[in-house]
Amino acid sequence: MIFVLTGAGISRESGIDTFRDKGGLWEQVRVEDVATPEGFARDPARVYEFYDKRRRELQSGAIRPNPAHAALARLARSREVFLVTQNVDDLHERGGSPAVMHMHGELLSALCSKCGARSRWTGDLGAKDACPACGAAGGLRPDVVWFGETPYFMEEIARAAERCDLFVSIGTSGAVYPAAGLVKIARANGAGTLEINLEPSQNAAFFDGGLYGPASAKVPEWADRVLRESGASGDQ
Ligand code: APR
Repeated sequence: MIFVLTGAGISRESGIDTFRDKGGLWEQVRVEDVATPEGFARDPARVYEFYDKRRRELQSGAIRPNPAHAALARLARSREVFLVTQNVDDLHERGGSPAVMHMHGELLSALCSKCGARSRWTGDLGAKDACPACGAAGGLRPDVVWFGETPYFMEEIARAAERCDLFVSIGTSGAVYPAAGLVKIARANGAGTLEINLEPSQNAAFFDGGLYGPASAKVPEWADRVLRESGASGDQ
């Protein structure tokens, strides 16, 4: 099984800003204000608006999957791929990947703080909206894992990292844990490890090798080489 972990870099060429590159999201707004429970408690309207804007942009038609997303979908058609993303966009799904684990949540989802339900949500989200599951109003928040909160599916993700044959990290700076620690679990269990990124990440030393350049070029190059070597074409 191939474990693929993606980060904001894979969506950069689709038009979505990364977080820590020059001009990235965390230079535009403060993490403390829009990506922490404290920030949400302090000024919910500010946080709702921040995610509404990103949710609208994602669905505007201007943001589409790029060849890196499509290459991972091609790979999953003939190899066992366990795809985990730190991204909250839906570009992997729109690119054709059959199963995507969003460990940091999703822009197109709302979380009810009253009943815990996660509901698909494509419009703007506000304090007055009612939870589609329990009907209560006033408890919905963006379904995005903020700093200090526990990522989703970590049990299942760690188990998969233990049993994978190859661990590939794509477009992530390796700055945020537990995501950045997954390569160490894979390595400790004998997996091969590859980093595909614009440039070496701060985690580069944990990888056997690296493919450096834009994801839209490097991910198809790698995926199609894997498919050639395994003698299967993604369309089988
Ligand atoms: N192709 C490949 N890699 C790219 C490209 C590109 N076109 N453009 C940028 N990158 C790389 C950068 O070199 C960087 O290493 O993508 C990485 C983006 O790093 P970050 O901005 O830190 O994004 P990410 O690693 O996904 O952040 C992890 O931090 O703020 C939290 O929850 C947020 O999920 C996010 C997490």
